[in-house]
Amino acid sequence: MKNVGIIGSGTMGIGIAQVAATSGCEVFLYDQNSAQTEKSLASLKKILNRLVEKEKISSQKSEDIFNKIKPCTELQDFKDCDLVIEAIIENKEIKTKVFQQLENIVSDECIISSNTSSISITSLSSELKNPKRFIGIHFFNPAPLMPLVEVIPGLLTEKTLAFEITALMESWGKVPVIAKDVPGFIVNRIARPFYGEALRIAEENIATPEQIDDAMRTLGNFKMGPFELMDLIGIDINFSVTKTVYADYFFDPKYKPSLLQQRMSEAKLHGRKTGKGFYDYSENAQQPAP
Ligand code: NAI
Repeated sequence: MKNVGIIGSGTMGIGIAQVAATSGCEVFLYDQNSAQTEKSLASLKKILNRLVEKEKISSQKSEDIFNKIKPCTELQDFKDCDLVIEAIIENKEIKTKVFQQLENIVSDECIISSNTSSISITSLSSELKNPKRFIGIHFFNPAPLMPLVEVIPGLLTEKTLAFEITALMESWGKVPVIAKDVPGFIVNRIARPFYGEALRIAEENIATPEQIDDAMRTLGNFKMGPFELMDLIGIDINFSVTKTVYADYFFDPKYKPSLLQQRMSEAKLHGRKTGKGFYDYSENAQQPAP
């Protein structure tokens, strides 16, 4: 797997690009918003510089990783890719359009995958001319640091593809697990009640987000509380995932989305990436994030 295309250069796309480039792949990175690609590459440069300062990698390695990532201005640049990983907005219609466009550009052998957190892999693949080559490859945030990757074959995916991707993820230093194509797969299904109950506790004024996070960190030994995590993931992404899982489990009340999260999503209080979510990440924050 030499040439890897990544669609979407946001939180996940740039992280996956770093992982693939670190493993020696040539990475083609495309986003419809080229300013986002520039911004993400600038922050990757800072991350790599920090790794050099901490003597985790050599400056040569840092340069090699950075130079392996080629920013692209059109999907046409993906024509020689062996694998494409999509990491754009969590919306089935928009993802489908991009895959249909991509199918006319890449070779018949190219594997097409999605980093979706919740959308059915089977439903995405069924919109393609060749659904056999389509699979879910779900990284966790931040992709360079989180070892787990869920590999999700859909009902129409070629049987051997999950094993091929599992081997590839291992070669990228990840710990893959093959998951069934159910709403939320493994981790996001477990995580829905975790976030949902935390949001209900805050909405019922039983405790504030700060108190809940503090309790989970100091008493529960979690690295981060649910509200800090939602700010890291992105309130918009988290809300979309919850809506999909709720609808796809035929509106099981266990997964019911929160009105507070809906309003925050509408207000673009998306968390770290917009500077404000449950916590304030701006420089002059009155109540700085933990
Ligand atoms: P993000 O909002 O940080 O980045 C999405 C990027 O996609 C943006 O830069 C946007 O300009 C671009 N984009 C939107 N529509 C596009 C199109 N039609 N063509 C090309 N680029 C387009 O989102 P994030 O957080 O990186 O999530 C991306 C995907 O990864 C989603 O499917 C999400 O569910 C999944 N995911 C997110 C995780 C997280 O913690 N944020 C964790 C694991 C998976």
